[in-house]
This record gives sequence, C-alpha cells and structure tokens, in this order.
Amino acid sequence: MTVRVLYVCSEVFPLLKTGGLADVSAGLPPALAAQGADVRLLLPAFPSVVAGVVPEGASLLVPPRDTLGLPPGLGPRSGTVHGPTPWLQQGRIEATGQPVLLLHAPGLYDRPGNPYHDASGKPWADSAEQFAWLGWAAALMGTGLDSTWLPDVVHGHDWHTGLAFAYLDRLAAAGRRRPATVFTVHNLAYQGVFDAGVRERLGLPDPLFRVQGLEFHGHISFMKAGLHFADAITTVSPTYAREITGPEQGCGLDGVLRERRHRLRGILNGVDDAVWDPANDALVRPGYSADDLTGKSAAKARLQKHMGLKPRAEALLFCVVSRLTEQKGLHLLPGVVDELVRRGGQLAVLGAGDTQIEHALQHAAQRHPGDVAVHIGYDEALAHSLIAGSDVILVPSRFEPCGLTQLYGLRYGTLPLVRAVGGLVDTVTDSSLEHLDDGSASGFVFHDLTEADLLSALRRAFALRRREADWRAVQRHAMTLRFDWARAATDYLQVYAQARSDATGTASA
Ligand code: ADP
Ligand code: GLC
Repeated sequence: MTVRVLYVCSEVFPLLKTGGLADVSAGLPPALAAQGADVRLLLPAFPSVVAGVVPEGASLLVPPRDTLGLPPGLGPRSGTVHGPTPWLQQGRIEATGQPVLLLHAPGLYDRPGNPYHDASGKPWADSAEQFAWLGWAAALMGTGLDSTWLPDVVHGHDWHTGLAFAYLDRLAAAGRRRPATVFTVHNLAYQGVFDAGVRERLGLPDPLFRVQGLEFHGHISFMKAGLHFADAITTVSPTYAREITGPEQGCGLDGVLRERRHRLRGILNGVDDAVWDPANDALVRPGYSADDLTGKSAAKARLQKHMGLKPRAEALLFCVVSRLTEQKGLHLLPGVVDELVRRGGQLAVLGAGDTQIEHALQHAAQRHPGDVAVHIGYDEALAHSLIAGSDVILVPSRFEPCGLTQLYGLRYGTLPLVRAVGGLVDTVTDSSLEHLDDGSASGFVFHDLTEADLLSALRRAFALRRREADWRAVQRHAMTLRFDWARAATDYLQVYAQARSDATGTASA
C-alpha cells in the first residue's frame, strides 16, 4: 500500500536554500516517490518559493485555535497573523514537478531576504509565530484537513517543524486522527528556544509545557517538542546519532535523546545526481569522470583565472565552500594559510557568515595575493566551480551532523580533508598507509580541533600529491563511492513503517 507522507520543512533547493537542509528537501522526496511513496512537501510561502511553484487545485483554509471542534486554547491565536485566515495553496515545484503545499499567512512569510533572520543577522522578531503556524498547518493536515489526502506519516525537519508534534499530541488526546510522526534533526545546535511568554499566543497549554514535554529551562523549545513527541527520531548520520546522546554534542538535549534512544536512528544523506555529477554538471563544462580527468584540469585552470589565482597547474589547490560559522571549524584556517602557501599550495574560499572569520580569511588573502582568494557571499555556480576545480576540499568542522560538501568533493575527485566528527567520520577514510594498502582511502582525516592537527593533515595531502599513482588511486576510489538517495529512502521507509506500527495509542494523558 502506498504510504502518504507529509514532508514538512522550511527550505528546498533550488527555490530557497541557506544550507544542506534545502539539498535534502530536494533529494529525498523524489527518492521516496521512486520507491512508491506519495510525498507532498509543506513549506512556508516565502517569496522565492511562491515564485517557483505552479498553483494547482483548490486552497485549504488553516483555521486558528478555538474553531468549532478544536481543543480550546490549542494552536496559534488568530491575532498572530495580520490579515485573513492562513491557507494552504496546493501546487507543484515548476522545475521538478514535486507536489507541494504552500502555507500563506499574511505578514509572516511575505518579506524579502533570509527566512530566519533580518539583514543584521538578528532572528525575525516573529520567528516563533512563523514556525508555530507551520507546525499547526502540518498538524491539521495530519488530522484530516484535506479529506481527499490523509497522510499516514508527518515527517518534519529541524526545529522549524517541532511544534507540529506537540499539537498532534493534543489533537490526538482530544480524539482526533493521529498519523505516525517522524522528526529529523539536521542540526541540534539550532533549537528554536523562545520565552515562555509566547505560550498563550501559540496555544501551548499546560500538558505540553512541562519537562516531559517542550519546556526547556523555563522556556519553550521547538526542537524539544519534536524530540519528545515524535514516534521516531532520525538524524543525518549514524555517528551524529551517537554523539548527540552525550553531553558534549547534546546541546542540553542529550537527556531527552538518551531517554528516547531506542527511537533514534542515523541515516546518512545522499547526493542528488541531477545536481552534483561531474559528468553531467551544467555548471562545469566539459564534464569529466574517473577515467578521463581532462575536464577537471580545465575546471582548475578556469577557477584559478576566475578567482585571480596564479595559473599553476601543479599547485595543490584547496577549497572551502561553507557557511562561515563556529560549527565549521574555519577559525583554524587563517592560522595555517602561511604554511599551506609556503608548501606551494593555493586556497580558494567561498562562504559567508561570521564577520570575524570573513575578515581573518580576507586578511589571509591580502597577505598572499595570487595564492589565496576569498569570495564572500553565496553563489551556487561558483560552488560548483570550486568543488570541480580544486584538488582538496577542507571541512574541518567542530561538529557536523552529516555534511554534504565532502560528499560532493568525493564525487568530483576533490579529496575531502575533514575532522573526525559526525557524518564526516562515516563518509571519509584517511589516506593512512593501511587504508592506501586496502584501497579504502578517500581523503584526509584529523582529530583534534587544533591548528597543529589540521596542519599535519595538510602535510599528508601534500605528501600524497607527490605520489602520483597513490593520489590517482585514492581519487578514483573517492569518485566511485556512492552515497545515493535511494539507499537513504529505503531506510526512511523502514522508519515510517516502524513509526506507523508504534503510533497507535501514543497520545500522552
Ligand atoms: P550546512 O547545511 O551545515 O551548511 P552542508 O555541507 O550540509 O552544510 O550543506 C551546505 C550546502 O550549502 C552545500 O550544498 C554547499 O554547496 C552549499 N553552500 C554553502 N555555502 C555556500 C556558498 N557560500 N555559496 C554557495 N553554496 C554554498
Ligand atoms: C545541517 C547540518 C549538515 C547537514 C545538513 C543536511 O545543516 O549542519 O551537517 O549535512 O543539515 O542534513
């Protein structure tokens, strides 16, 4: 029997993307559909999302709280939107045909810029309302808002969707239909924690606001709501699934995760072949493969020219394509740049984020004109050029739930140099002698979050580069590895099946 999945998220490539979450929302749903699932995305109607969706079919009103028949006091108050009742517009993503429901809520999403924060980087003042409405719409869809399409599973992603699971719990307690629920953590560090004062506006009654609920040190945690109330929890790599049950990476929620550890599973992300395939990448021409790397050499020469680097084919070219935040460990980079250049290497950086890290990297570029180039900003086409044209991609993360750029690096024969944490552990094998010998080496792995340890991995990269045959063997192996969405989709379908069998009778008292 076809499983109907309401896939709730805040961003989707190519319409709206701030990070890997958008790549996952684009890659996983079609892979689930290819294995027979009927998947509809539910997203806020941010302007760029609306622009990329072709409306199709009627829209559905999403009533605020206290509408006839809903439990009193549950759900966002009507005054939290600035106009008529929110509604769901049905449609399809124009580029892919993916069915979607867009949540329109006057005043909440129809603004330009980043979905989560204003131009100065401060979270939008009405962030709690924005994502309470998303959760509420998901919960109502789950309980039968559209009688022609009743989801078997509500699958929410990250804190933005957490309240769906709390609302569903209360709706079920009031006798409503309860779909199975799955909550996926892409990044535990972003939690959606708000002052308890918003409780009344969002409609989160006492049974929800307790330690065995979404209360978090006197505040409301959207993330905790997902972790506590979902039938199944997944995260995006097996290693991160283990790490977040401990205090070091648990971000204060390790206790909840330990309690629910039997419901927690790590499923690695995949690579979307339609977007990241060196042989068929519209942004990298001519394409290339493990058997013929001519196109990769051409990509390197183009990249050096574009970024203002010296046109040295023999230079070992390192790249970074990343949000520039504490998470990514890139504060270490400025300290090792001099040595990297002294050894004959080059560095190309594309990213944006913390101004301190941006400035430190720009300063390094000024010290080494022609050898270090930094582009501050977000640029999809340039990201493809960097990943295709470089020899090594640096991902020295402090923590990394899965990480996608190292997977893209592997696919493009750009060896990942990573720190041994989270999904990076599960996807990259160090080029130690033993791994070179057994053919499993695919990159470079270091352990301590220190300049010294990063430097030793950089030295190993230079050393391997001097051993042409070994470099080629590692590159070839990296390029043949497959992290595909089909495998992940099979695992998610298992999680759905288990959640469905666990779901019966789970409403808390
Ligand atoms: P995270 O989601 O933590 O940022 P991931 O590695 O999972 O990290 O995903 C990052 C995604 O964002 C990748 O698709 C990467 O190519 C892209 N990306 C990151 N920074 C930039 C940038 N400055 N310009 C273009 N793409 C970027
Ligand atoms: C988050 C994580 C990243 C992961 C991505 C997609 O942004 O930081 O590691 O790859 O989500 O799951």
